[in-house]
Amino acid sequence: DEDERTERIEAALDELGDDVVILGHNYQRREIVEHADFIGDSYQLSKEAANADAEYVVFGGVTFMAESADIITDDDQKVILPSMEASCPMAGMAEALQVDAAWAEITAETDDDIIPITYMNSYADLKAFCAEQGGLVCTSSNAHKAFEYAFDKGDKVLFLPDKHLGENTAHRLGMEDEIVEWDPWDPESKDAAAAAENDIILWDGYCQVHERFRESHIEDVREEHPDVNVVVHPECRREVVEAADVVGSTSTITETVADADPGEQWAIGTEIHLTNHLSRWHPEVDVMPLCGDACMDCNAMRQIDPNYLAWVLEELVEGRERNVIRVAPEEKELAQVALDRMLEI
Ligand code: 13P
Ligand code: SF4
Repeated sequence: DEDERTERIEAALDELGDDVVILGHNYQRREIVEHADFIGDSYQLSKEAANADAEYVVFGGVTFMAESADIITDDDQKVILPSMEASCPMAGMAEALQVDAAWAEITAETDDDIIPITYMNSYADLKAFCAEQGGLVCTSSNAHKAFEYAFDKGDKVLFLPDKHLGENTAHRLGMEDEIVEWDPWDPESKDAAAAAENDIILWDGYCQVHERFRESHIEDVREEHPDVNVVVHPECRREVVEAADVVGSTSTITETVADADPGEQWAIGTEIHLTNHLSRWHPEVDVMPLCGDACMDCNAMRQIDPNYLAWVLEELVEGRERNVIRVAPEEKELAQVALDRMLEI
């Protein structure tokens, strides 16, 4: 039962002491975040990984986050993901091989310098590709700064994989007229020349959790609660972001509710576990999910079952390292360049 499992996790953590640090993304289940040394968004967690002294970083999150932690930490530190099944579908929508082929087509159509930016939600080989082409990584909290960096260096941006974050960032910078969406697999839209004409080329990827939010969810919640405020993640569709009161990363969403006055109503447009944490952490605020009864649950994040957390920790106590995430050395160095460029902006 849960109490017994909690005792097992605590006993293993006592035994491991400073050898282990647990990082928990805001979308992890309560039974994971309550054991985390740090809870945060993917940018904050990458900074915590970089600062960690522990030999083992146990990551409550998804594969691309654990990969980033492995890239950022020292070579003698190891990153452990409690389940190897925790893979973000959006990261899988832009595979480095496909991007490489698309890149060749687009760059053949223009003499302009294109700078690729990949969202943190991508695999290490794509981050390495971006570094090689003079580009960088960004998260939802610094995408606008990454665009500014790229336009400083080149003429155009190829943004991967999340078209909604790309579109929302272009709007934030007043560059919405420069957007072209390009789906390299769709024969109808497969026109590299047309894509290369605009300054912001958006890859056709998206988050299946955030894409399910609709403007009608905002209309419905406002009809039912006339005083409600709405905060959403920038992975949501443009019209949802436009209709919301506040938009931001999972840490911005967390801070927004933390700063709310008692009795304020906040509808949260993001993954349901964060909404549930916010209700628990801030009982004085009236927190509600934006999606009504529909459950916006991230399958990938959900793979990190607390039983797996207990297992990897108990195995470490026994001297066995399970589920170590290792990025290939040739990718690691370049991906680090792309991440360092982000950490510098
Ligand atoms: P944050 O960087 O805002 O934590 O978002 C990560 C993510 O996966 C959102 O779906
Ligand atoms: Fe990926 Fe969306 Fe899950 Fe975030 S919420 S990890 S972007 S599928």
